[in-house]
Amino acid sequence: MRLVAWQPDDLLRRLDDVVTVYGEAMGYRQELLQTRRGYIGAHVRRQGFRAVATLTTDGRLAGFGYGYTSGPGQWWHDQVRSALDDPSRDQWLSNCFEVVELHVRPAAQGHGIGARQLRALLAMADGKTVLLSTPEADEQKSRAWRLYRRFGFVDVLRHFFFPGDERAFAILGRELPLSDRPAEDAPGIVGI
Ligand SMILES: CC(C)(COP(=O)(O)OP(=O)(O)OC[C@H]1O[C@@H](n2cnc3c(N)ncnc32)[C@H](O)[C@@H]1OP(=O)(O)O)[C@@H](O)C(=O)NCCC(=O)NCCS
Repeated sequence: MRLVAWQPDDLLRRLDDVVTVYGEAMGYRQELLQTRRGYIGAHVRRQGFRAVATLTTDGRLAGFGYGYTSGPGQWWHDQVRSALDDPSRDQWLSNCFEVVELHVRPAAQGHGIGARQLRALLAMADGKTVLLSTPEADEQKSRAWRLYRRFGFVDVLRHFFFPGDERAFAILGRELPLSDRPAEDAPGIVGI
């Protein structure tokens, strides 16, 4: 497996694979994936865009992650902003990198790929804080939750509902930069 940094055009060239991995990882239906495809195509042009990918030795996509600078006028940013009080907005949103997607193909999960991707993405990110949203789940049973907690993410909002989505989400955040010491943020993970 090879972890690589992607420029916007690298991601666009592999957009079919990106959407496939996303769909497999999240278990989403085909029609939802087509909508998501359009969003991802637009996200790569946002300020502060950073992306990483994990490729197998024969070049297949095993996972990817990306994010960008979170700012007013972006749907996600505005939803989160409206739910926070002023001090929390200042703390979390004034200079914030949003992790928008982080996924690993199901067959490749549980081998440290997600952790390596997250570490690499956050090492490249601009900002004083990083935020992400993830569906509410049993923190002990969910791989995503265990990963984020291991990286030191704390609760910013819990049981939050985005318009048009019936699932409850948590908004999690931490300060940047990550520690230079891998053991502190992701025990057992060797740096990228
Ligand atoms: C969440 C997700 C990105 C995590 O990626 P992952 O590659 O499965 O996660 P990791 O392998 O880094 O961590 C999982 C486990 O592997 C173990 N692990 C970490 N490094 C390892 C290594 N080098 N060798 C073996 N195992 C390792 C960890 O102990 C970890 O254990 P845990 O189950 O207690 O967390 C991935 O599971 C995924 O795509 N899930 C579905 C989609 C999703 O939920 N995405 C996030 C939405 S917000």
